[in-house]
Amino acid sequence: MGYDFDALTARRGTASVKWDEYGENALPMWVADMDFRAAPAILDALQKRLDHGVFGYELLPQAYYDAITGWFARRHGWTGFGKDDIIPTTGVIPAYSACIKAMSSPGDKVIIQSPCYNAFYPAIRNNKCLESHNTLVWDGTDCTIDFDDLERKAADPRATVLLLCNPHNPAGRVWTRAELGRIGDICLRNGVFIISDEIHCELTYPGHDYTPFGTLPPEIVRRSATCCSPTKAFNIAGIQIANIVATDPEVRRRIDRAINDNECCDVNVFGAAALVAAYNESEDWLDELRKYLYDNYLTVCNFLRDELPGVTWPPLEGTYLMWLDCRAYKPASEPGEGFSARLADFLRDREEGLVLSTGTIYGAAGEGFERLNIACPRTRLLEGLRRLRDGLRAYAGREK
Ligand SMILES: Cc1ncc(COP(=O)(O)O)c(C=O)c1O
Repeated sequence: MGYDFDALTARRGTASVKWDEYGENALPMWVADMDFRAAPAILDALQKRLDHGVFGYELLPQAYYDAITGWFARRHGWTGFGKDDIIPTTGVIPAYSACIKAMSSPGDKVIIQSPCYNAFYPAIRNNKCLESHNTLVWDGTDCTIDFDDLERKAADPRATVLLLCNPHNPAGRVWTRAELGRIGDICLRNGVFIISDEIHCELTYPGHDYTPFGTLPPEIVRRSATCCSPTKAFNIAGIQIANIVATDPEVRRRIDRAINDNECCDVNVFGAAALVAAYNESEDWLDELRKYLYDNYLTVCNFLRDELPGVTWPPLEGTYLMWLDCRAYKPASEPGEGFSARLADFLRDREEGLVLSTGTIYGAAGEGFERLNIACPRTRLLEGLRRLRDGLRAYAGREK
Protein backbone atom coordinates (compact mmCIF):
# COMPACT_ATOMS: atom_id res chain seq x y z
CA MET A 1 0.00 0.00 0.00
CA GLY A 2 1.28 3.48 -0.82
CA TYR A 3 1.39 6.02 1.99
CA ASP A 4 1.65 9.72 1.33
CA PHE A 5 4.72 10.99 3.13
CA ASP A 6 4.79 14.02 0.83
CA ALA A 7 1.58 15.44 2.34
CA LEU A 8 2.15 18.77 4.08
CA THR A 9 0.13 18.58 7.29
CA ALA A 10 0.00 21.97 9.00
CA ARG A 11 1.30 21.73 12.54
CA ARG A 12 1.68 25.36 13.50
CA GLY A 13 -0.89 26.44 16.06
CA THR A 14 -1.44 22.88 17.30
CA ALA A 15 0.52 23.41 20.56
CA SER A 16 3.41 21.50 19.01
CA VAL A 17 6.73 21.86 20.82
CA LYS A 18 8.52 21.60 17.51
CA TRP A 19 6.38 24.14 15.64
CA ASP A 20 5.07 26.53 18.23
CA GLU A 21 8.07 27.16 20.45
CA TYR A 22 9.69 29.68 18.09
CA GLY A 23 8.44 32.45 15.83
CA GLU A 24 6.33 32.13 12.70
CA ASN A 25 9.32 32.68 10.41
CA ALA A 26 11.38 29.83 11.75
CA LEU A 27 11.11 26.46 10.02
CA PRO A 28 11.56 23.85 12.76
CA MET A 29 14.00 21.00 12.14
CA TRP A 30 14.96 20.35 15.72
CA VAL A 31 12.88 18.33 18.26
CA ALA A 32 12.80 14.62 17.42
CA ASP A 33 9.33 14.12 16.10
CA MET A 34 8.21 13.76 12.50
CA ASP A 35 5.89 15.88 10.38
CA PHE A 36 3.99 12.80 9.10
CA ARG A 37 0.56 11.62 10.16
CA ALA A 38 0.64 8.32 12.02
CA ALA A 39 -0.08 5.00 10.29
CA PRO A 40 -3.78 4.46 9.39
CA ALA A 41 -4.05 1.41 11.67
CA ILE A 42 -2.96 3.53 14.63
CA LEU A 43 -5.43 6.28 13.79
CA ASP A 44 -8.19 3.67 13.50
CA ALA A 45 -7.31 2.07 16.83
CA LEU A 46 -7.28 5.45 18.57
CA GLN A 47 -10.60 6.39 16.96
CA LYS A 48 -12.13 3.12 18.11
CA ARG A 49 -10.89 3.68 21.63
CA LEU A 50 -12.20 7.25 21.52
CA ASP A 51 -15.60 6.15 20.24
CA HIS A 52 -16.11 4.01 23.33
CA GLY A 53 -16.31 7.25 25.25
CA VAL A 54 -15.26 5.94 28.65
CA PHE A 55 -11.68 6.44 29.73
CA GLY A 56 -11.46 4.95 33.18
CA TYR A 57 -8.42 3.18 34.61
CA GLU A 58 -7.45 0.32 32.39
CA LEU A 59 -5.64 -2.99 32.80
CA LEU A 60 -3.04 -3.71 30.19
CA PRO A 61 -4.36 -6.72 28.26
CA GLN A 62 -2.32 -9.78 27.34
CA ALA A 63 -2.51 -8.49 23.75
CA TYR A 64 -0.33 -5.56 24.80
CA TYR A 65 2.50 -7.84 25.91
CA ASP A 66 2.02 -10.19 22.97
CA ALA A 67 2.34 -7.25 20.58
CA ILE A 68 5.71 -6.33 22.10
CA THR A 69 7.19 -9.82 22.26
CA GLY A 70 5.75 -10.71 18.83
CA TRP A 71 7.24 -7.62 17.23
CA PHE A 72 10.74 -8.00 18.60
CA ALA A 73 10.82 -11.74 17.83
CA ARG A 74 9.49 -11.34 14.29
CA ARG A 75 11.38 -8.24 13.33
CA HIS A 76 14.61 -8.43 15.29
CA GLY A 77 15.04 -12.05 16.39
CA TRP A 78 14.83 -11.09 20.07
CA THR A 79 12.98 -13.92 21.76
CA GLY A 80 14.42 -14.23 25.24
CA PHE A 81 11.73 -12.39 27.17
CA GLY A 82 8.03 -12.61 28.03
CA LYS A 83 5.27 -10.68 29.70
CA ASP A 84 6.80 -11.02 33.17
CA ASP A 85 10.02 -9.36 32.02
CA ILE A 86 8.25 -6.20 30.81
CA ILE A 87 7.62 -3.14 32.96
CA PRO A 88 5.36 -0.60 31.19
CA THR A 89 5.78 3.09 31.89
CA THR A 90 4.95 6.50 30.49
CA GLY A 91 8.04 7.19 28.41
CA VAL A 92 11.62 6.24 27.76
CA ILE A 93 12.89 9.12 29.89
CA PRO A 94 10.98 7.92 32.99
CA ALA A 95 12.12 4.39 32.06
CA TYR A 96 15.86 5.02 32.04
CA SER A 97 15.61 7.43 34.95
CA ALA A 98 13.98 4.71 37.08
CA CYS A 99 16.66 2.25 35.93
CA ILE A 100 19.40 4.65 37.06
CA LYS A 101 17.66 5.07 40.40
CA ALA A 102 17.35 1.30 40.77
CA MET A 103 20.91 0.41 39.86
CA SER A 104 23.00 3.21 41.39
CA SER A 105 23.46 5.09 44.64
CA PRO A 106 23.76 8.85 45.03
CA GLY A 107 27.31 9.93 44.20
CA ASP A 108 27.88 7.10 41.71
CA LYS A 109 29.08 7.78 38.19
CA VAL A 110 26.95 7.09 35.13
CA ILE A 111 28.98 6.55 31.96
CA ILE A 112 27.61 8.20 28.83
CA GLN A 113 28.94 8.22 25.30
CA SER A 114 28.82 11.92 24.64
CA PRO A 115 27.75 13.82 22.71
CA CYS A 116 24.54 12.09 23.77
CA TYR A 117 20.80 12.71 24.03
CA ASN A 118 20.38 15.90 26.09
CA ALA A 119 17.79 14.46 28.47
CA PHE A 120 20.36 11.92 29.73
CA TYR A 121 21.95 14.73 31.73
CA PRO A 122 19.01 15.72 33.95
CA ALA A 123 18.25 12.05 34.60
CA ILE A 124 21.77 11.57 35.93
CA ARG A 125 21.57 14.74 38.03
CA ASN A 126 18.07 14.04 39.33
CA ASN A 127 19.27 10.69 40.62
CA LYS A 128 22.15 12.47 42.40
CA CYS A 129 24.74 10.78 40.22
CA LEU A 130 27.72 12.20 38.32
CA GLU A 131 28.53 12.12 34.62
CA SER A 132 31.47 10.10 33.35
CA HIS A 133 32.14 10.83 29.67
CA ASN A 134 33.29 8.11 27.32
CA THR A 135 33.43 10.66 24.51
CA LEU A 136 32.86 9.34 21.00
CA VAL A 137 35.70 9.77 18.53
CA TRP A 138 34.86 11.80 15.42
CA ASP A 139 37.63 11.82 12.83
CA GLY A 140 35.73 13.78 10.20
CA THR A 141 34.56 10.60 8.48
CA ASP A 142 33.32 8.19 11.15
CA CYS A 143 32.15 8.24 14.72
CA THR A 144 33.50 5.42 16.88
CA ILE A 145 33.80 4.32 20.50
CA ASP A 146 37.08 4.81 22.36
CA PHE A 147 37.19 1.38 24.00
CA ASP A 148 40.45 2.03 25.89
CA ASP A 149 38.81 5.03 27.50
CA LEU A 150 35.70 2.96 28.24
CA GLU A 151 37.91 0.37 29.99
CA ARG A 152 39.33 3.13 32.18
CA LYS A 153 35.96 4.72 32.92
CA ALA A 154 34.36 1.36 33.74
CA ALA A 155 37.25 0.43 36.05
CA ASP A 156 36.46 3.41 38.30
CA PRO A 157 34.77 1.83 41.35
CA ARG A 158 32.29 4.73 41.49
CA ALA A 159 31.06 3.96 37.96
CA THR A 160 28.05 1.68 38.40
CA VAL A 161 25.91 2.33 35.32
CA LEU A 162 26.43 2.90 31.59
CA LEU A 163 23.56 4.67 29.86
CA LEU A 164 23.78 3.44 26.28
CA CYS A 165 21.96 4.90 23.29
CA ASN A 166 21.39 2.16 20.68
CA PRO A 167 21.08 3.49 17.96
CA HIS A 168 22.87 6.63 19.00
CA ASN A 169 21.27 10.07 19.10
CA PRO A 170 22.77 12.39 17.86
CA ALA A 171 25.66 10.55 16.14
CA GLY A 172 23.30 8.41 14.03
CA ARG A 173 25.34 5.25 14.67
CA VAL A 174 23.65 1.86 14.79
CA TRP A 175 26.01 -0.07 17.02
CA THR A 176 27.08 -3.42 15.61
CA ARG A 177 26.81 -6.69 17.51
CA ALA A 178 30.60 -6.65 17.86
CA GLU A 179 30.60 -3.15 19.37
CA LEU A 180 27.75 -3.97 21.73
CA GLY A 181 29.44 -7.22 22.75
CA ARG A 182 32.63 -5.33 23.57
CA ILE A 183 30.72 -2.76 25.61
CA GLY A 184 28.89 -5.58 27.40
CA ASP A 185 32.09 -7.45 28.12
CA ILE A 186 33.87 -4.40 29.57
CA CYS A 187 30.89 -3.54 31.76
CA LEU A 188 30.41 -7.11 32.94
CA ARG A 189 34.08 -7.41 33.98
CA ASN A 190 33.83 -4.14 35.89
CA GLY A 191 30.44 -4.57 37.52
CA VAL A 192 28.85 -1.75 35.49
CA PHE A 193 25.14 -2.17 34.81
CA ILE A 194 23.96 -1.27 31.28
CA ILE A 195 20.77 0.64 30.54
CA SER A 196 20.13 0.51 26.83
CA ASP A 197 17.87 3.23 25.42
CA GLU A 198 16.56 1.69 22.18
CA ILE A 199 13.85 4.22 21.33
CA HIS A 200 15.31 4.79 17.84
CA CYS A 201 15.73 1.09 17.06
CA GLU A 202 13.25 0.80 14.17
CA LEU A 203 14.72 3.60 12.09
CA THR A 204 17.75 2.06 10.45
CA TYR A 205 19.02 2.27 6.87
CA PRO A 206 20.39 -0.19 4.31
CA GLY A 207 23.38 -2.13 5.58
CA HIS A 208 22.82 -1.27 9.24
CA ASP A 209 20.65 -3.66 11.21
CA TYR A 210 19.68 -2.91 14.76
CA THR A 211 20.97 -5.41 17.32
CA PRO A 212 18.79 -5.55 20.45
CA PHE A 213 21.07 -5.43 23.48
CA GLY A 214 18.87 -8.24 24.83
CA THR A 215 20.22 -10.64 22.18
CA LEU A 216 23.78 -10.56 23.56
CA PRO A 217 25.04 -13.49 25.68
CA PRO A 218 22.79 -14.10 28.72
CA GLU A 219 25.44 -13.25 31.33
CA ILE A 220 25.66 -9.74 29.80
CA VAL A 221 21.90 -9.39 29.31
CA ARG A 222 21.23 -10.25 32.97
CA ARG A 223 23.23 -7.15 33.90
CA SER A 224 21.20 -4.87 31.64
CA ALA A 225 17.78 -3.34 31.11
CA THR A 226 16.40 -2.22 27.75
CA CYS A 227 14.09 0.78 27.39
CA CYS A 228 12.03 0.67 24.22
CA SER A 229 8.95 2.22 22.71
CA PRO A 230 7.15 2.47 19.37
CA THR A 231 6.78 6.25 19.79
CA LYS A 232 9.72 7.48 17.67
CA ALA A 233 9.29 5.12 14.74
CA PHE A 234 5.54 5.51 14.53
CA ASN A 235 5.48 9.23 15.37
CA ILE A 236 3.30 8.98 18.46
CA ALA A 237 5.69 10.54 20.99
CA GLY A 238 2.98 12.74 22.50
CA ILE A 239 1.01 9.63 23.45
CA GLN A 240 3.73 8.62 25.90
CA ILE A 241 4.13 4.92 26.30
CA ALA A 242 7.28 2.86 26.82
CA ASN A 243 8.52 -0.40 28.26
CA ILE A 244 11.48 -1.64 30.22
CA VAL A 245 12.67 -5.18 29.56
CA ALA A 246 14.73 -6.75 32.33
CA THR A 247 15.14 -10.52 32.47
CA ASP A 248 16.89 -10.83 35.83
CA PRO A 249 14.30 -11.07 38.63
CA GLU A 250 16.31 -9.09 41.19
CA VAL A 251 17.11 -6.33 38.68
CA ARG A 252 13.44 -6.21 37.72
CA ARG A 253 12.33 -6.03 41.33
CA ARG A 254 14.60 -3.04 41.88
CA ILE A 255 13.43 -1.27 38.72
CA ASP A 256 9.82 -1.99 39.55
CA ARG A 257 10.38 -0.46 42.98
CA ALA A 258 11.92 2.66 41.40
CA ILE A 259 9.08 3.00 38.88
CA ASN A 260 6.63 2.86 41.77
CA ASP A 261 8.68 5.27 43.89
CA ASN A 262 8.59 7.69 40.97
CA GLU A 263 4.83 7.03 40.54
CA CYS A 264 5.03 6.49 36.81
CA CYS A 265 3.62 2.98 36.59
CA ASP A 266 0.22 3.71 35.03
CA VAL A 267 0.05 4.29 31.30
CA ASN A 268 -2.81 5.95 29.45
CA VAL A 269 -5.51 4.10 27.53
CA PHE A 270 -4.48 5.58 24.18
CA GLY A 271 -0.89 4.49 24.67
CA ALA A 272 -1.85 0.86 24.90
CA ALA A 273 -4.16 1.03 21.88
CA ALA A 274 -1.54 2.83 19.79
CA LEU A 275 1.24 0.42 20.71
CA VAL A 276 -0.78 -2.65 19.76
CA ALA A 277 -1.82 -1.14 16.43
CA ALA A 278 1.76 -0.05 15.71
CA TYR A 279 3.39 -3.38 16.42
CA ASN A 280 0.62 -5.60 15.03
CA GLU A 281 -0.65 -3.69 12.02
CA SER A 282 1.76 -1.00 10.88
CA GLU A 283 4.83 -2.86 9.70
CA ASP A 284 4.37 -1.98 6.01
CA TRP A 285 3.89 1.70 6.91
CA LEU A 286 7.16 1.62 8.83
CA ASP A 287 9.03 0.02 5.95
CA GLU A 288 7.78 2.66 3.53
CA LEU A 289 8.67 5.37 6.01
CA ARG A 290 12.22 4.04 6.30
CA LYS A 291 12.61 4.21 2.52
CA TYR A 292 11.28 7.75 2.47
CA LEU A 293 13.61 8.84 5.27
CA TYR A 294 16.56 7.22 3.55
CA ASP A 295 15.76 9.13 0.36
CA ASN A 296 15.57 12.28 2.48
CA TYR A 297 19.00 11.45 3.83
CA LEU A 298 20.42 11.01 0.31
CA THR A 299 18.80 14.31 -0.68
CA VAL A 300 20.55 16.07 2.20
CA CYS A 301 23.90 14.44 1.37
CA ASN A 302 23.71 15.56 -2.26
CA PHE A 303 22.63 19.05 -1.33
CA LEU A 304 25.35 19.54 1.27
CA ARG A 305 28.08 18.21 -1.01
CA ASP A 306 27.03 20.60 -3.77
CA GLU A 307 26.09 23.68 -1.77
CA LEU A 308 27.88 23.50 1.57
CA PRO A 309 31.00 21.43 0.95
CA GLY A 310 32.55 22.45 4.28
CA VAL A 311 29.89 20.60 6.27
CA THR A 312 30.73 17.02 7.26
CA TRP A 313 28.71 14.41 9.13
CA PRO A 314 28.93 10.84 10.35
CA PRO A 315 27.06 8.57 7.90
CA LEU A 316 23.45 8.26 9.04
CA GLU A 317 23.03 4.57 9.90
CA GLY A 318 19.88 5.08 11.97
CA THR A 319 17.53 7.75 13.41
CA TYR A 320 16.32 10.72 11.37
CA LEU A 321 18.74 13.08 13.07
CA MET A 322 21.83 14.23 11.21
CA TRP A 323 24.85 15.41 13.12
CA LEU A 324 26.40 18.22 11.14
CA ASP A 325 29.94 19.39 11.78
CA CYS A 326 29.74 23.06 10.79
CA ARG A 327 33.14 24.21 12.03
CA ALA A 328 34.39 25.00 8.53
CA TYR A 329 31.92 27.90 8.52
CA LYS A 330 33.21 29.51 11.71
CA PRO A 331 34.84 32.84 10.93
CA ALA A 332 38.50 32.69 11.95
CA SER A 333 38.07 35.67 14.24
CA GLU A 334 35.52 33.88 16.42
CA PRO A 335 36.39 31.62 19.33
CA GLY A 336 35.49 27.94 18.96
CA GLU A 337 33.65 27.95 22.25
CA GLY A 338 30.05 29.03 21.90
CA PHE A 339 30.09 28.70 18.11
CA SER A 340 27.27 26.11 17.99
CA ALA A 341 24.99 28.29 20.08
CA ARG A 342 25.81 31.47 18.15
CA LEU A 343 25.24 29.75 14.82
CA ALA A 344 21.96 28.14 15.93
CA ASP A 345 20.69 31.51 17.20
CA PHE A 346 21.74 33.22 13.98
CA LEU A 347 19.99 30.65 11.77
CA ARG A 348 16.84 30.76 13.88
CA ASP A 349 16.51 34.54 14.08
CA ARG A 350 16.92 35.31 10.39
CA GLU A 351 14.03 36.53 8.25
CA GLU A 352 13.81 33.02 6.81
CA GLY A 353 14.72 31.25 10.01
CA LEU A 354 15.63 27.62 10.58
CA VAL A 355 15.54 25.94 13.97
CA LEU A 356 18.21 23.29 14.52
CA SER A 357 19.25 21.71 17.81
CA THR A 358 22.40 23.37 19.16
CA GLY A 359 25.23 20.83 19.25
CA THR A 360 26.33 21.64 22.79
CA ILE A 361 23.01 20.66 24.40
CA TYR A 362 24.33 17.11 23.82
CA GLY A 363 27.47 17.88 25.83
CA ALA A 364 30.69 19.81 25.35
CA ALA A 365 31.71 17.29 22.66
CA GLY A 366 28.93 18.75 20.52
CA GLU A 367 30.74 22.08 20.10
CA GLY A 368 30.88 22.94 16.40
CA PHE A 369 27.90 20.74 15.52
CA GLU A 370 24.19 21.26 14.90
CA ARG A 371 21.57 18.51 14.78
CA LEU A 372 19.20 18.45 11.82
CA ASN A 373 15.87 16.57 11.91
CA ILE A 374 15.14 15.30 8.38
CA ALA A 375 11.77 13.63 9.12
CA CYS A 376 9.49 15.82 7.06
CA PRO A 377 8.00 15.93 3.55
CA ARG A 378 10.65 16.41 0.88
CA THR A 379 9.51 19.88 -0.21
CA ARG A 380 9.84 21.06 3.39
CA LEU A 381 13.22 19.41 3.65
CA LEU A 382 14.44 21.24 0.55
CA GLU A 383 13.17 24.53 1.93
CA GLY A 384 15.06 23.86 5.17
CA LEU A 385 18.23 23.03 3.25
CA ARG A 386 17.95 26.24 1.27
CA ARG A 387 17.65 28.18 4.52
CA LEU A 388 20.60 26.29 5.95
CA ARG A 389 22.74 27.11 2.91
CA ASP A 390 21.85 30.79 2.90
CA GLY A 391 22.19 31.11 6.67
CA LEU A 392 25.47 29.27 6.95
CA ARG A 393 27.02 31.21 4.08
CA ALA A 394 25.80 34.48 5.59
CA TYR A 395 27.23 33.50 8.98
CA ALA A 396 30.59 32.56 7.49
CA GLY A 397 30.77 35.82 5.56
CA ARG A 398 30.04 38.01 8.56
CA GLU A 399 33.62 39.06 9.24
CA LYS A 400 34.34 40.02 5.65
C1 LIG B 1 17.52 8.67 22.86
C2 LIG B 1 16.18 9.17 23.30
N1 LIG B 1 15.62 8.66 24.41
C3 LIG B 1 14.41 9.08 24.86
C4 LIG B 1 13.70 10.06 24.19
C5 LIG B 1 12.38 10.54 24.72
O1 LIG B 1 11.62 9.46 25.15
P1 LIG B 1 10.15 9.66 25.72
O2 LIG B 1 9.50 10.75 24.96
O3 LIG B 1 9.51 8.32 25.51
O4 LIG B 1 10.31 9.96 27.18
C6 LIG B 1 14.25 10.60 23.02
C7 LIG B 1 13.54 11.68 22.30
O5 LIG B 1 14.05 12.29 21.41
C8 LIG B 1 15.51 10.15 22.57
O6 LIG B 1 16.08 10.64 21.46
